Amino acid sequence: MTDPATVDHLVLVGMTGAGKSTVGRIVAERLGRRFVDLDAAIEARAGRTVRDIFAVDGESAFRDLEASTLADVLDAAEPVVVATGGGAVLRPENRAILSSPDRRVVWLMADPDVVLERVRAGMHRPLLDDDPRAALDRMWAERASLYQEVADAIVMIEGRSIAEVVEAVLR
Ligand code: S3P
Repeated sequence: MTDPATVDHLVLVGMTGAGKSTVGRIVAERLGRRFVDLDAAIEARAGRTVRDIFAVDGESAFRDLEASTLADVLDAAEPVVVATGGGAVLRPENRAILSSPDRRVVWLMADPDVVLERVRAGMHRPLLDDDPRAALDRMWAERASLYQEVADAIVMIEGRSIAEVVEAVLR
């Protein structure tokens, strides 16, 4: 496996609530890299919250913004650590740029049972507002194979502390 310190960008993918932002921030510190939370980058670019974009413009408009922001973030000259949103793998163009050989994509793997205990609907998760269990099941059915498709490495998060997940990502 490639040493993450020698490759371009390190990108975390996986279900909402898998800990991508928390783990990504620590991994970035450890590697001395800039950390980018894709949802936060989208909000900064749009000057609006994720929730507001979903509510006013709809999911498809959010996915457009997500795709253009991801492309720009991965265009950075210096290697960064990126925590993507759980749905970032849905667009084929995103999967194509994630599959480029000079970036390391790590799937923080957690199925709906694991995620349900950890996730809060929260401000940036409008898709979990109504029936989180059903939404997570739907997401898992649609996305597990897409995470698999782009992943260079898979880190199971069940039963692991954040520190252990961080070590596994850095390995
Ligand atoms: C989404 C996950 C969210 C956010 C948006 C859509 C999804 O990010 O991008 O609400 O489709 O799974 P997290 O994975 O950080 O929750």
